[in-house]
Amino acid sequence: MGEGVVRGYLAAGADVVVPTRTQERAEEFRRLLGDSATDRLHLVVHDYTTFTGAEQLADEMERRLGGVDDVVAPIGGWWSGKRLWEIDENDWQSAFVGLAAAHMAVVRAFLPRLKTRGAYTLIVGASSSTPVPGSGLVSMEQAALLMMRQVLEAELDGQQRVFALVLGPVRTRLVESGDPDWVSADQVGAIAVAASGAVATGGREIRLRSQAEVHEALALLRAGRPAGTGTVVAVSTMAPAKGRRADLVEVLTGLAPQIRAEPGCLHYSVHRARGDADGPLLVIQMFTSIEAFRAHSAAVADQIPRIGALLATPPAPPTLFEPVSRSALIEEVGNDA
Ligand SMILES: NC(=O)c1ccc[n+]([C@@H]2O[C@H](COP(=O)([O-])OP(=O)(O)OC[C@H]3O[C@@H](n4cnc5c(N)ncnc54)[C@H](OP(=O)(O)O)[C@@H]3O)[C@@H](O)[C@H]2O)c1
Repeated sequence: MGEGVVRGYLAAGADVVVPTRTQERAEEFRRLLGDSATDRLHLVVHDYTTFTGAEQLADEMERRLGGVDDVVAPIGGWWSGKRLWEIDENDWQSAFVGLAAAHMAVVRAFLPRLKTRGAYTLIVGASSSTPVPGSGLVSMEQAALLMMRQVLEAELDGQQRVFALVLGPVRTRLVESGDPDWVSADQVGAIAVAASGAVATGGREIRLRSQAEVHEALALLRAGRPAGTGTVVAVSTMAPAKGRRADLVEVLTGLAPQIRAEPGCLHYSVHRARGDADGPLLVIQMFTSIEAFRAHSAAVADQIPRIGALLATPPAPPTLFEPVSRSALIEEVGNDA
């Protein structure tokens, strides 16, 4: 899960510190991220799972980076094989006590240092509320995290925000196949980034068990987020080749979940002229920045031949629009005068 979250924050332009307890995991992580591992990725080999270790990490981050904006904690994993009365003390210590202590250590070291309206995001599984026989320790520990979130939210009094992303089965590099309705690790990253930016939205539990729940969450988190001065609107008019309009609609609407889940995408919609069942289609997209638009162009580059084959004329790049500020308007009017 961490890979998707780190990719999302890097694509959004953040400096991302990834602590791990072993050198091997650090090297594996850098290799897996490939080109996404820019110089804004700071991999740190450090035991952040004890109270002292987490404090040291938080101190060091404040000293070197000047502070911490957000924390995402996908700390944990899966555990199964025994019914509750069959577990031994080792199981209890590692799958419950160790994990709960790691979460507590990170919360107490980082939460008081987050900037105002910063987001602390826990990542848990749906087993936190649905019992899974043979995996009771995971369910109990994750249920405790959901209550921890509620307590923190009540104690913080709106200063910072605490989210919990509650996941069903997820498509990761380890489980590429699976139901297309499953949420992907990159979509989880996009939601974490959107929660960070949705400063007007209070911390909450967000269920992400299907594509519909992902879109609902993105719509909630992105609603009311003011379009910044750097936002880019991309508009494309696409005239379908004779007899290919339905196929073009199918491809363009089929791309919606993937494009809307991009960390920098604020809007994607496909339109037709009112009452015109055969004419051109209008695609309207909005991105947080020109960098986000470029990342989007790279992400969909392999779709262009597929779309081009359905068009009456060769595909052209979209026209880009930026917000017009009042002062720029006055300047332009002044020049005309
Ligand atoms: N993957 C899924 O399909 C899925 C589905 C639903 C929910 N989730 C939830 O997402 C979260 C992350 O899962 P994941 O699949 O990304 O797991 P993962 O690949 O095993 O990563 C978990 C990370 O937690 C860290 N960790 C710290 N203390 C730990 C401890 N005592 N025991 C084990 N790990 C510890 C490890 O960091 P180090 O690098 O320091 O070892 C590890 O990188 C979990 O809460 C999980 O329940 C995952």
